[in-house]
Amino acid sequence: MHIKLFSIFLFIPFLTSAQTNPVLSAGNINSVKIENQKVSFKTDHTFGEIIIYSPNIIRVRLDKKELQKDFSYAVIAKPQDKKANITQNEESITIITDSLKAIINKQPYSVAFYTLDGKIINQDEKGLQSSWVDEEVTAYKHMQNGERFIGLGEKTGNLDRRGEGYTNWNTDAFGYATNRDPIYSTIPFYMGIHDGLNYGIFLDNTYQTDFNFGASNDRFSSFAAQGGELNYYFIYHTQLKDIITSYTALTGRMKMPPLWSLGYQQNRYSYYPDTEVMRIAQTLREKKIPADGITLDIHYMDKYKLFTWDKERFANPEAMNKKLNEMGFKTTVIVDPGIKVEKDYDAYEDGLKKDVFIKYPDGTNYSGQVWPGWCNFPDFTNEKARAWWREKVKFFANTGVSGIWNDMNEIATWGQKMPSNILFNYDGKLASNKQAHNVYGMQMARSSFEGMVAATNKRPFILTRAGYAGLQRYTAIWTGDNRSEDDHMLLGVRLMSSLGLSGVSFTGMDIGGFTGGPSVGLYAKWIQLGAFNPYFRNHTAVNTKSSEPWTYGEEVTEISRNYISLRYKLLPYLYSTFNTSVTTGLPVVRSLAIDNTFDPKIYDTQFQNEFLFGQAFLVAPFESTKDFGNIYFPKGNWYNLYTGEKQAGNSEKIIRLSLNKMPVYVKESSIVPMQSLIQSTAEQPTDTLIINIFKGNINNSFVYYEDDGESYNYEKGDFYKRKISYDATHKTIVFDQAEGSFKSKFKYLKLMFHGFDSGDNINSGKALQADFASFLTPISKFDPQGSANSIEGYKVKSVVLSNDAKRFEIKY
Ligand code: GLC
Repeated sequence: MHIKLFSIFLFIPFLTSAQTNPVLSAGNINSVKIENQKVSFKTDHTFGEIIIYSPNIIRVRLDKKELQKDFSYAVIAKPQDKKANITQNEESITIITDSLKAIINKQPYSVAFYTLDGKIINQDEKGLQSSWVDEEVTAYKHMQNGERFIGLGEKTGNLDRRGEGYTNWNTDAFGYATNRDPIYSTIPFYMGIHDGLNYGIFLDNTYQTDFNFGASNDRFSSFAAQGGELNYYFIYHTQLKDIITSYTALTGRMKMPPLWSLGYQQNRYSYYPDTEVMRIAQTLREKKIPADGITLDIHYMDKYKLFTWDKERFANPEAMNKKLNEMGFKTTVIVDPGIKVEKDYDAYEDGLKKDVFIKYPDGTNYSGQVWPGWCNFPDFTNEKARAWWREKVKFFANTGVSGIWNDMNEIATWGQKMPSNILFNYDGKLASNKQAHNVYGMQMARSSFEGMVAATNKRPFILTRAGYAGLQRYTAIWTGDNRSEDDHMLLGVRLMSSLGLSGVSFTGMDIGGFTGGPSVGLYAKWIQLGAFNPYFRNHTAVNTKSSEPWTYGEEVTEISRNYISLRYKLLPYLYSTFNTSVTTGLPVVRSLAIDNTFDPKIYDTQFQNEFLFGQAFLVAPFESTKDFGNIYFPKGNWYNLYTGEKQAGNSEKIIRLSLNKMPVYVKESSIVPMQSLIQSTAEQPTDTLIINIFKGNINNSFVYYEDDGESYNYEKGDFYKRKISYDATHKTIVFDQAEGSFKSKFKYLKLMFHGFDSGDNINSGKALQADFASFLTPISKFDPQGSANSIEGYKVKSVVLSNDAKRFEIKY
């Protein structure tokens, strides 16, 4: 009863009877239907559904008209068949699952989520709930005490987004300022944190969406869409990492990338002619800078026309790619969506004939200007156009290209004002540019991915600039046209870490910066940091100083070589970490918020650029101009990568910074597999896998993973997987029996024990061909080129075992 009084009190004072309220709220629920895992209801002004996807995921749908047939470009999961307990009375509907309770109040409609023991996780803001202003629908959530907000994909700003508002509208943001919003891609998923609780909300709506985390108000957080239904997924787990796992169960996870794509990739706008490409490749080899990728930017094409080669610059691309392949390089080419409007140009004529382009409502093709001049654009939301594109990309596969870089797919056109009335197929549901814009880039990357897989039967490397939630299923993403500035380097870290919180693991940024030119110091810092980017891409704009590692003098060449070499030695660790992204959705660049969600220090803006590279390495980047840096060490013990010095966590430490070292620390109890130095992934490392084990007081495990690095046979069990556990309680390291049908390329395991002392009497049930008396000599200089194959710098005990895949234990 008092609820009704409340709503009367709320609205009457403001409106006289002659006025209509421009804000339409859902109103009261007046009919309810409860089916198995679904509650359908009608309110005064809306139709709604609450669907239980799993004990941890509840979906809310609300619209002014009857709900449309379900369709999503992002969500691939179906509701699990797990019973929730759903009951109702006069006032409310209650849903109880194994992990949460949802209460839907009827008068007026509002929803609240609780833990099973009754703590509020998230609730609609009383009096505001969900409402429309014209076609824009907004859900208002009560701002909880001290609530923080993280995620939302590729968004500038701080790790904690409290106090800020954001818009999702994929935008070509050339040389963007570090606070610019929006930029290239849209992932309407964030996580809220308060009172020791955390939850995720994914708003699955491809219209422009707007998020408010307490910007210009102290009352609510909200999320809004400019059209379509209010359609969101509420996810609750006690641990943040499980929320990411549930979110990626909904929107899908990446597939294993080709191994080569984790190597160093040299880009520039643009390398041409073919002799220049070969010069770059040869120089990398001569200077012993390991590399796997060379990327061709728009100048490889004939006047920027897609699916052509400039015949003068690249007379025989097939021969060039073959030669590059023999040298251990893979070629990636850029593609833009615009097909030049030009009579007798094959791709254009063919596209016209097959009718694949987006259109004005009067049926004429939309033309916009981009690199080649006036262009038409394939409708990637139409299966017909995707099929056309899949056929078209064979053109590249047939010349030995291994990667496709999808650029300008926001869609970017000169003028940046694509009309709203352009029509897209939207997989049979006809949509305007307003609804289709944000998914266009993702569907382009999907088409390139599917086309390359069909053409090569191998894993392609696919890169995109624009995307939507779920893009990780098809493509890697990079953060577009950044600037050669210190704060851009650090912003890049936060963009990658926010993308990682939002389901996207394979991320990178232009190392050295795209616009402008870095100082020697900034370049050195950036390339060091690049070694810890999932996608390691060096790139720069046209008419800038070239950005190869040798451009900045001998010392920087040496620094680049050191860190790129370290990256190559770490490939077994990195590849296994990517496999974790494939199986759990957890990212490679891990925000400290994943493991330290409730530690306020990690949100402090002076520490927010620190991240974990996989589970073991704490990386702390600083501006190149700084001589000293303050590092925050989260809970646990940490080892300095270079000296082995131990550092207790929950502490800050000011360290002296130097040009040639990036501050990196290894977490206690870590297990880090490494291999011998190679110059590209086409080269085989030695047959010994080095497993670094760092002494610690916490339990930990690492899933070592290997496969052929290029096919999808791993999906049929052709992999080698082995869980290695650090059991600090029992002072035991356990190698589980290997799983899968793939035979490891490593015959021997060399175990290297870090931080153990002579008192640690290491032994195992297995006949160790151990010579524990032999300590490796401490090496004072950081030299990843060295042959010892360990993370050098401090005392280690080592032992070599044959890798016979059987379970064994080591006690210390
Ligand atoms: C866009 C891309 C950039 C590329 C350039 C030329 O600006 O973001 O990476 O080099 O186009 O193709």
